[in-house]
Amino acid sequence: VSRLDIIELIERKRDGGTLTPDELRQVVAAYTAGSVPDYQMAALLMAVFLRGFDNDELVPWTEAMLHSGDVLDLGRVAAPKVDKHSTGGVGDKVSIPLAPLVAACGVAVPMMSGRGLGHTGGTLDKLESIPGFRTRLEPAEFTRIVERHGLVLAGQSETLVPADRMLYALRDATGTVPSVPLIASSIMSKKLAEDLDGLVLDVKVGAGAFMPDEASARHLAETMVDLGAGHGTPVQALLTDMDQPLGQSVGNANEMAESLDVLAGEGPADVVEVTFRLGTEMLLVAGVAGDRDEARRLLADARDSGRAMEKLTDVIAAQGGDPRVAADRSLLPHAPHHHEVTASRAGYVAACDAHDVGVAAVRLGAGRSRKEDDVDPSVGIDVLAKRGDEVESGTPLARVAYRDPDRLAAALPLLERAWRLAEEAPDPVPLVLGRVG
Ligand code: URA
Repeated sequence: VSRLDIIELIERKRDGGTLTPDELRQVVAAYTAGSVPDYQMAALLMAVFLRGFDNDELVPWTEAMLHSGDVLDLGRVAAPKVDKHSTGGVGDKVSIPLAPLVAACGVAVPMMSGRGLGHTGGTLDKLESIPGFRTRLEPAEFTRIVERHGLVLAGQSETLVPADRMLYALRDATGTVPSVPLIASSIMSKKLAEDLDGLVLDVKVGAGAFMPDEASARHLAETMVDLGAGHGTPVQALLTDMDQPLGQSVGNANEMAESLDVLAGEGPADVVEVTFRLGTEMLLVAGVAGDRDEARRLLADARDSGRAMEKLTDVIAAQGGDPRVAADRSLLPHAPHHHEVTASRAGYVAACDAHDVGVAAVRLGAGRSRKEDDVDPSVGIDVLAKRGDEVESGTPLARVAYRDPDRLAAALPLLERAWRLAEEAPDPVPLVLGRVG
């Protein structure tokens, strides 16, 4: 695509026109090859964000992303291959305990995750808080690890879905994340490159999700289920609550520690429940459990026997990480300073706004504001009071781990408004709001 062509495509999309399959393929290929610069791609992404894609655009765009690098051939893996992906949340570390739990039940999980995006955290950033852990694997190594362990936890690379690696980082820094076609193509290009037998999606709904209301979350879920069906990959989506952060920890190293807690049979009840609900769907899609009760039993046994923790430990070692973190959390990075946010009055927690908490975590350095930024794995927020909890004036609502006092000062206003207190206890909200698939 020459410079002039790309400008014409940007203008056409900006003005509400449609792009042909061939044009879409060329744009993705040219961007991946480096011949379309970031600023033109950013303009096109914003035009897509504002105008959307119709189905005849979304399918070839997703295909072009999927084929921007190598597609895996996991034909030598005998076990059914199933993965899970979340549309993004705050405190959503579920992939990390879930993947080894499911792998320990005999399902192969070739997981390709993302980094922090907008105010949401990313599995890759959390995993990289483990000293030495490598998430950028070439296809041969990715395949070798999943053949050997039935589990791999990696990201897009130069050769695996490079278009998503590049577009994802660009969207993160250009305000073009919360778009159904851009999220659906990002997720499905990664997942369809994994040579899966089935996929489970966790589509988040609420203040901390990219789709705040259930109707738009459902539309996103349906879009992804359809993209999967077009490839013959069965996809099951759960819509789950993301109004308040999931679990207690929001950050990177602290979320890694909480993930290890879940595998050790501890961890906050909501994280455990979402992990088990998604794990159940994965075992059913894989055909290794006949019904939900059996699936839960298998998952509980994988956890309680220590097999899931052992699986994760083996894969941490295989990917260059220090496997001793499983037994010794002090090997994860720790921030030098702490600050407590407390309740200004007595009452019940009516809401803890996941978006505000997520933005606060980014401001502390747990996420990026420019695409070349590094995250600080040690900083983060521990959410100490959740919806329905009763608090006194002065009760700690959050404990903030920080390094830079200026960054703390930028984060605090968000944390000071994130909790809404009320006289009455709020009605409970279900964790799983619906399903599509
Ligand atoms: N997760 C992804 O992989 N991509 C998105 O765009 C959003 C969430």
